[in-house]
Amino acid sequence: MKKFIITATLLLSGFISIKAQNQYPEWLKSAVFYQLYPQSFKDSDGDGIGDLKGIESKLDYLHNLGVTAIWMNPIFESPFRDAGYDVSDFYKIAPRYGNNNDLLALLNAAHKRGIKICLDLVAGHTSDKHPWFKASAQADSNEFTHRYIWTSSKDILPGSFFIKNDFPRNGNYLKNFFDYQPALNYGYAQPDPAKNWQEPVTAPGPTATREELKKIIAFWMDKGVDGFRVDMAFSLIKDDENLVETKKLWTEVRAWFEQKYPQGVLIAEWSKPEYSINAGFHIDFMMHFGVPGYPSLFFNKWGTFKSQNPFFDKRGDGDFSDFWNNYKKQLELTQGKGYISIPSANHDFQRPNCGNRNSTQELKTVMAFLLTWPGIPFIYYGDEIGMRFIENLPDIEGSILPDGNNRAGTRTPMQWDKTANAGFSIAQKIYIPIDPAPNRPIVEQEDADKNSLLNFVKALIKLRKDNPALGNDGKVEAL
Ligand code: GLC
Repeated sequence: MKKFIITATLLLSGFISIKAQNQYPEWLKSAVFYQLYPQSFKDSDGDGIGDLKGIESKLDYLHNLGVTAIWMNPIFESPFRDAGYDVSDFYKIAPRYGNNNDLLALLNAAHKRGIKICLDLVAGHTSDKHPWFKASAQADSNEFTHRYIWTSSKDILPGSFFIKNDFPRNGNYLKNFFDYQPALNYGYAQPDPAKNWQEPVTAPGPTATREELKKIIAFWMDKGVDGFRVDMAFSLIKDDENLVETKKLWTEVRAWFEQKYPQGVLIAEWSKPEYSINAGFHIDFMMHFGVPGYPSLFFNKWGTFKSQNPFFDKRGDGDFSDFWNNYKKQLELTQGKGYISIPSANHDFQRPNCGNRNSTQELKTVMAFLLTWPGIPFIYYGDEIGMRFIENLPDIEGSILPDGNNRAGTRTPMQWDKTANAGFSIAQKIYIPIDPAPNRPIVEQEDADKNSLLNFVKALIKLRKDNPALGNDGKVEAL
């Protein structure tokens, strides 16, 4: 077991210095993740939306596929204006997915099959319907007055991220993403004395937010969850040049987390491994933003984010160097400390089957690359059967981004069999349209076809497990 030391000098409220010795959980070394979009995986109660019992009923499928861990998008109570990334209660499963006991049952059933489950932690913001925010928006001071970032008067509007409102409080709040996602207050790296509403990271408000974050993590870890993917992990501390204070915050969280949950993992949505992994995350991605390179592999003229001449295109005139040069640099800066993941897709950008890259042969090529590459593979649900990105869907649960790009096409229901709604749901009306193509790929058919993408992916996962050189700690060189 390779060990490494992170010496974390942490500026806690009392200026205490902590030294943490970090090593990663053994299971990560052979982990193959599956990202599952809970609302679109399997509906067990016929309401047209996927749920936890539905997921539980498909664990054997995932086990047979060979994946060893699942990351699920947020399943907490929410008005679902941003598909659950607008949380209104961090301690409660959204009723449409089931209840807290259903999660315990799912964890138990997954663990019996050797599958770990990671949840999604929306660390930087809440819904504007969260009781904390409602309390914070009151004129009278209360426990949550400093939980969010508010200017000291409604007349102060420092930029487009501050939102004007008609709440009783005399101030405008800072958003983190959409307008209805107010930023939690973790403080400012360099508070400007002229702006008295900017608090240092050690002020009581930001300190309480940080403690609450740990409380949420502990609440679910104590129930048997195996870790978290942290949404917008880079976004917590404001005006933070080079993210110095943000990195310190995560180093502190990792030291605490590792001591309490040595088998737990923290996965960053940061897309800058040199920052995130050195700050204590076990895994970070290279994907559609952050460190450049991913789009040059996969993005063509279709999908959520359009580009041209990707490397994975049958014309073969793409260039690998943009990805490789950036990846190599990130690898050198993080080697032995954590894993970089190149995901097949995620809920924010298009799948490999997009536009004119749609043949089984091409999709097999993409999966062969992803599943023999070092780091930890993340297969986005449905990519193992070659589900298509669907163009021109309406705005569903906030799928359309402020810049107009639409994510709905990558969130359509999993295609299981030949029955109605491809076996996803028995409902008349499902919350998001299913791929209408008569020949849409389905699990049932691919399972029975030895030349299918699904069986190819299964074989690749097995090959990876059987050959350490092709595994998570394998070495790679571009020729
Ligand atoms: C992350 C999520 C995305 C969400 C946003 C705001 O980027 O992946 O789906 O809309 O954060 O929480």
